[in-house]
Amino acid sequence: MIKMSGKIYIIGIGPGSSEYLTKKAVDTVKMSDYAVGSTRAIELFSDVKNTIPFNVKELLTTLERGVELASEGNTVSILSTGDPGFSGVLNTVLRISDEKNFPRENIEVLPGVSSLQLAAAKCHIQWDSANVMTFHGRENIDDILPVINNGNITIALPSRKVRDMAQFLLDNGVEKTRKVIVCERLSYPDEKIVASTLNDIANSEFTYMCIIVIYP
Ligand SMILES: C[S@@+](CC[C@H](N)C(=O)[O-])C[C@H]1O[C@@H](n2cnc3c(N)ncnc32)[C@H](O)[C@@H]1O
Repeated sequence: MIKMSGKIYIIGIGPGSSEYLTKKAVDTVKMSDYAVGSTRAIELFSDVKNTIPFNVKELLTTLERGVELASEGNTVSILSTGDPGFSGVLNTVLRISDEKNFPRENIEVLPGVSSLQLAAAKCHIQWDSANVMTFHGRENIDDILPVINNGNITIALPSRKVRDMAQFLLDNGVEKTRKVIVCERLSYPDEKIVASTLNDIANSEFTYMCIIVIYP
């Protein structure tokens, strides 16, 4: 017997703390047959029927499994940190769904608070005129050079270590004294916000979970 297509929710879960989860996200996961996401993401929800955890290496196959389960008639919540549309899984899930002929009208995206938004809020930045950039998963970060001197604040997800990114900017002639704020592990109990100069940041260690804010 052929079952009707189910539904896929691509859900932004915010920067990490459950305080930033939307009620819509909680309610949707609760009524879903499956929750697909990192262990850290799944742990934010107390009421989950079936879980499909993934790590980075298995990301694609796990997302494919999620789409297949939806094609078999299940309701599947795919959890994405922050907002799914900013360096999240949105495009990947859409591509897999198209490949598997899963109907777009059965896919709903629920926005979440992006780490970028929380960084802007913590730094009191109105970010509508900021250079918003993501280098996550990218090696080439040259795109930052044409905008770094355009007079606006730059808010970026670094591609690699924050210190390497700062060093890249120094190597490309950006002034040592530029004000930089690094927002690390936002919303977690060990959140750290460090305001310093580009030169100091190039000589400091941070974890990978950072947003870097570079002032003009
Ligand atoms: C795969 S991207 C996901 C971004 C996410 N979609 C968003 O809107 O925040 C992962 C990167 O986002 C940033 N990030 C995610 N959560 C963060 C947090 N709580 N604090 C600081 N940076 C965070 C880090 O740069 C991390 O390497």
